[in-house]
Amino acid sequence: MTTLDTGFTLIRTATRRVASFHDYIWRRFNDFMPKGLYARALLIMIVPMVVLQSVVAFVFMERHWNTVTQRLSAAVVQDIAALIDVYKGYPQDKDRAQLRRIAQQRMGLVVDFLGPGDMPPPGPKPFFSLLDQSISKQISRQIARPFWIDTVGRSNLVEIRIQLDDAVMRVFAQRSAAYASNSEIFLFWMVGTSSILLIVAVLFLRNQIRPILRLADAAESFGKGREVPNFRPRGAREVRRAAHAFIEMKSRVERSIEQRTAMLAGVSHDLRTILTRFKLELALIGDGPDVDGMRKDVDEMAAMLEAYLAFARGDSGEQAQPVDMAAALEELRSDAERNGHSATVVFHGQPVVTVKPASFKRCLANLVSNAARHADSIAITGHRDHRYLTVTVDDDGPGIPQDMREEVFKPFLRLDDARNQDEGGTGLGLAIARDIARSHGGDITLGDSPMGGLRATVRVPV
Ligand SMILES: Nc1ncnc2c1ncn2[C@@H]1O[C@H](COP(=O)(O)OP(=O)(O)OP(=O)(O)O)[C@@H](O)[C@H]1O
Ligand SMILES: [Mg+2]
Repeated sequence: MTTLDTGFTLIRTATRRVASFHDYIWRRFNDFMPKGLYARALLIMIVPMVVLQSVVAFVFMERHWNTVTQRLSAAVVQDIAALIDVYKGYPQDKDRAQLRRIAQQRMGLVVDFLGPGDMPPPGPKPFFSLLDQSISKQISRQIARPFWIDTVGRSNLVEIRIQLDDAVMRVFAQRSAAYASNSEIFLFWMVGTSSILLIVAVLFLRNQIRPILRLADAAESFGKGREVPNFRPRGAREVRRAAHAFIEMKSRVERSIEQRTAMLAGVSHDLRTILTRFKLELALIGDGPDVDGMRKDVDEMAAMLEAYLAFARGDSGEQAQPVDMAAALEELRSDAERNGHSATVVFHGQPVVTVKPASFKRCLANLVSNAARHADSIAITGHRDHRYLTVTVDDDGPGIPQDMREEVFKPFLRLDDARNQDEGGTGLGLAIARDIARSHGGDITLGDSPMGGLRATVRVPV
């Protein structure tokens, strides 16, 4: 192996590691993200808005608000500095009337002179006060004397006290003169308008998502073999298109089922006519061992045709409705007992389930009759949770070998020939049962029963 090869191998491992790390991060991220379309769409709107507003607010605070406030307070402090200069330069103005007049009229400041001891200890600083900060900074820079300020006490006035050599100068300034005060309005408007925007978005989105949910519900009901009452395409164009496609698909599926049924029924019917004729001819021939055999065959064929006809007719047209499953299972049990088998039944969960009553009963009856044919004792269990109804039929018969468990669902396939020549059925029972389970959106599976025989499990969504 050359150095180059080693290098490549290293790069490859590194790439793989980076890729798997990336996958991991992505998965974690996805776990955190909301799963619903509604929440996602809201997030897509809110996140950019919040980012945008934060950036704008930050830039505004940083640049505009800060600068303006600083300039305003600098101007006020400049005025105060000028007043201090006048105070020091003109001691002949005894009671400071001139100074006070100039301050009041020209600068909008109310000035007083207090005794040298009137300097309160520094009060608590408000947590987030731009004004406090900028005035303090300007006083330290321009006047450089001990000072005390109160920006909170009186709402629209700012009090500033400055220690002079022989007195304390107290100045009241208008808060608005030192502070870009209406800037908060900007933030207020920003938050206000975006809240309105959000409310509009929530209402609008909800209306957009409702048709999608309705389409999902309709598709789900159809999958469970239930009617979809008055479903109409609504909402945005794309959703409408999907809804139209669904309706189209639904009617195509229904049409093809109808066609299949009609065709099979037709074929069976025609064959039955011929069989009847055949039976008549056999009756005319008279008795004899050959004829008996033929008669038996014809009977068998007629029975098969009947069963097939029933299969083809299927559950067409039956409507799903609430059925008390516990009672239905109990009925199956008592039927089995009447036929001389020992049977038990248990049901867990809420018993009322929406199914096509006759078909579903037929499905379960087929399973129970199979168990009854092959075994002595039967155990029926029903279990219903928030998603599925599961019914298992256990028996203590010979069971079905693993490799035949899919095969036996084929129509007319029977394993009985080798086991029990006389009382075999037509081999349609399981095919019909599975057809019914699937038309409810579920399925049937076969497995080993703890009782030693076969376990047939029907599971349909509720
Ligand atoms: N509980 C069971 N134990 C053992 N074998 C079974 C059991 N259930 C079904 N089988 C086997 O599966 C085959 C197919 O069953 P299916 O119900 O489809 O037909 P069938 O019972 O023979 O006829 P049909 O139900 O139409 O009267 C049966 O012939 C039988 O050999
Ligand atoms: Mg059967």
